[in-house]
Amino acid sequence: AAAAAVVVHRKTKKSGRWVKAMEILKEFEEKCGTPIPKLKQVADAMIVEMHAGLASEGGSKLKMLISYVDHLPTGREKGLFYALDLGGTNFRMLRVQLGGKGRGIVNQQFEEVSIPPSLMTGSSDALFDYIAAELAKFVAQEGSDFKQSPGRQRELGFTFSFPVMQSSIASGTLLRWTKGFSIDDMVGQDVVAELAKAMERQGIDMRIAALVNDTVGTLAGGRYNNKILGTGSNAAYVERAHAIPKWHGLLPKSGEMVINMEWGNFRSSHLPLPDYDHALDTESLNPGEQIYEKVIAGMYLGEIVRRVLCRMTEEAAFFGDTVPPKLKEPFILGTPIMSAMHQDTSPDLKVVASNLKDILEISNTSLKMRKVIVELCNIVATRGARLSAAGLLGILKKMGRDTIKGGEKQKTVIAMDGGLYEHYTEYRECLENTLNELIGEEVSRTIEIEHSNDGSGIGAALLAASHSQYLEMDES
Ligand code: GLC
Repeated sequence: AAAAAVVVHRKTKKSGRWVKAMEILKEFEEKCGTPIPKLKQVADAMIVEMHAGLASEGGSKLKMLISYVDHLPTGREKGLFYALDLGGTNFRMLRVQLGGKGRGIVNQQFEEVSIPPSLMTGSSDALFDYIAAELAKFVAQEGSDFKQSPGRQRELGFTFSFPVMQSSIASGTLLRWTKGFSIDDMVGQDVVAELAKAMERQGIDMRIAALVNDTVGTLAGGRYNNKILGTGSNAAYVERAHAIPKWHGLLPKSGEMVINMEWGNFRSSHLPLPDYDHALDTESLNPGEQIYEKVIAGMYLGEIVRRVLCRMTEEAAFFGDTVPPKLKEPFILGTPIMSAMHQDTSPDLKVVASNLKDILEISNTSLKMRKVIVELCNIVATRGARLSAAGLLGILKKMGRDTIKGGEKQKTVIAMDGGLYEHYTEYRECLENTLNELIGEEVSRTIEIEHSNDGSGIGAALLAASHSQYLEMDES
């Protein structure tokens, strides 16, 4: 009888833990809820902040930065241009030969280089010297299939995907770092001047003709409204210049101005943020900032999953009595891994098992446990995707594109870029379905979401061309 009693006791203990773990999961799911009325509140809060950010500098958490791009490339640009795209864990270098009117891009080449993590938190000179040295190598490899008129200086578009207060199309100071970067001596500096100095040190003879955010580059590359979903998240759109009270410059001929929203820094009491999100924020490189980004963007989704799993293990022994050491490492569970587990279609969830083993060194999980992990990934991705759809609804409403006016068949294209959107199918589909649900069937037929592959680099080259010092020559 004694033995039986022990068995019974063990069983209850084990199932008690399971019940507790499921309670933690359930509570997390409830707190992450994004019903349609809540998403509409988020969209409306976004619009309020958009107005405030356009009204005055510092008027809102949304910076609504003026890009100095008041006309998009025309397609008549001509010549050889370079672009440098810096904003994530890699940077890209491009050279693009533009053929002029009717010919577009006739030749292009690119190279991607990863940035050693130590440089992301080191000094400004170290980062820019590294980049300029890579650029020098890339320029030296320019082949005879690229043509430049004799005596003409090469020009470059610089995509720098952080919040920058611009003072012209080719100058601007860094307001602060986001994502995984934190280099104190850069903040407040003119990023173009820093890059130019480093290029000079490498002996590169090239003029930086345009400084752009990746969202603005994508907009110029695709000539559409757009949004980036990758490591970070942000959106840019074309605003009517007279709807920007803080703009005191001349009214542009086009009457328009591209606005870099820096929407990652949006926050609102309507955002569903359980404790895990607060802890992630507090322990991040930029506490109190980029709150929206921290629930929707690629750098953070996997990390949220890790935090919930940690809690389920600490408080309910989900993976056994001790917390597996790897599970305690911040950012070890990247979003690509989360996405692979979430989209595991094998009946016994092989992909989940192998990732748990390879990344977290956790083996011997039951199918039931693996199903719970997939469910957790689903909760985190769904919240992120639905909240980004709410942000898009905000922009569409602000632009008056959320309704059909007087039978007018105006089409709106949203260009999306970034690894998250490209590779995380569940996320992408959830975002698109939610947006359709929010705007309704009829309007959704006027909206087209397209994936713009590397629009930001090409867009920067095009903007360098449309702001070239040889413009007259090019467009003739
Ligand atoms: C971060 C940056 C923003 C960029 C986005 C996507 O939110 O602050 O400038 O556009 O990431 O790269």
